Amino acid sequence: MAKHTITLIPGDGIGLETSAAMQQVVAATGVDIEWETAEAGAACIEKYGTPLPEQTVEAVRRNKVAIKGPITTPVGSGFRSVNVALRKTLELYVCLRPVLSIPGAGGRYEDVDLVIVRENSEDLYAGIEFEKDSEGAQRLIQFCEDEGAGTIRPDSGISIKPISETASENIVRYAFDYAVKHGRKKVTAAHKANIMKHSDGLFLQTARKVAKEYEGQVEFNDNIIDAFCMNLVMNPDWFDVIVFPNLYGDIASDLCAGLCGGLGIAPGANIGKEYAVFEAVHGSAPDIAGKNLANPTAQILSAAMMLDHIGELEAAALIRQGVRNVYADGTNLTADIRRATNSDAPAVSCTDFTQALVDEIERLRA
Ligand code: NAI
Ligand code: MG
Repeated sequence: MAKHTITLIPGDGIGLETSAAMQQVVAATGVDIEWETAEAGAACIEKYGTPLPEQTVEAVRRNKVAIKGPITTPVGSGFRSVNVALRKTLELYVCLRPVLSIPGAGGRYEDVDLVIVRENSEDLYAGIEFEKDSEGAQRLIQFCEDEGAGTIRPDSGISIKPISETASENIVRYAFDYAVKHGRKKVTAAHKANIMKHSDGLFLQTARKVAKEYEGQVEFNDNIIDAFCMNLVMNPDWFDVIVFPNLYGDIASDLCAGLCGGLGIAPGANIGKEYAVFEAVHGSAPDIAGKNLANPTAQILSAAMMLDHIGELEAAALIRQGVRNVYADGTNLTADIRRATNSDAPAVSCTDFTQALVDEIERLRA
């Protein structure tokens, strides 16, 4: 079997625990991986003067594939999100999040099977913002007034929502190509084009244009985001592949995780033309960090996506089967899943869950 060198950014908070668990489970599949560890996050600021050191970005460029744990972003002030910066720097324009029920994980439905394709580079996450009372904010407010575009209260902070035809076309095309490649029947575009005619409206118009090229091959429809949320919660089987601008995709990701048993089991990937960085949907969970309580399933399933990406399909399948077996057995489940299933059975630690999964994978291989 070929040897792979993969960049591992463990992150912080529960990332340290879930990354270690992930490494142990990947090793159990027998796949030959050399991990190259790279740092990012608040701890880097003192050492390197930035939360995202250049050598970390270089390591991902060199190996082309990385897996990362979550990284804490201070709310309101402090540095901008390292996660957003990494996606931008490496042009990881797709955020791919398969949503698949795991029987026994406490989902509201037993058979959710859909795929979130979220635009990763623009929208309100572009990071173009003007602080209240700043000169930029004042000038922008004046500009909008002069243009007759509308009146903004003078004491406003402003975040800009750019949506381009280029990025919309790229993400919608990715969604359709993904559907074709994986035998999926339908792509739904979620938006608020009725209100934001020039941003979401452009996204929808572009989606309709791209959809025409796939006519007869993949079905297309669209859904206004608020109605979409209700439809999703009541009838998840109405959806297959769903394509979103950045913000709605972020929110819908956690909503979908909730349908399946929670953030503890929701994997994901950030994908570009050249590089891919795999990571769970969840954040650093400061409330349980360092307590050996985290559910590492989400990062472990992100590693399965990574193994598919590098052509190690058997190892990926082993991990998925192992996970399904451990959840179906139900003896070794973490606290988040006990809560999701309203179960009084004792919860196991992150490390005990990991050991049970490693044992199961070894049993499957024997
Ligand atoms: P969060 O996802 O870290 O936590 C939300 C809730 O879910 C918490 O109660 C947490 O304990 C629980 N939870 C999350 N993952 C879990 C797991 N694997 N096992 C068991 N329980 C789990 O979201 P929150 O609290 O909003 O964000 C915390 C920090 O993480 C923030 O600084 C945020 O910016 C950052 N973040 C980083 C992300 C990344 O690195 N990609 C993504 C999302 C948030
Ligand atoms: Mg999120």
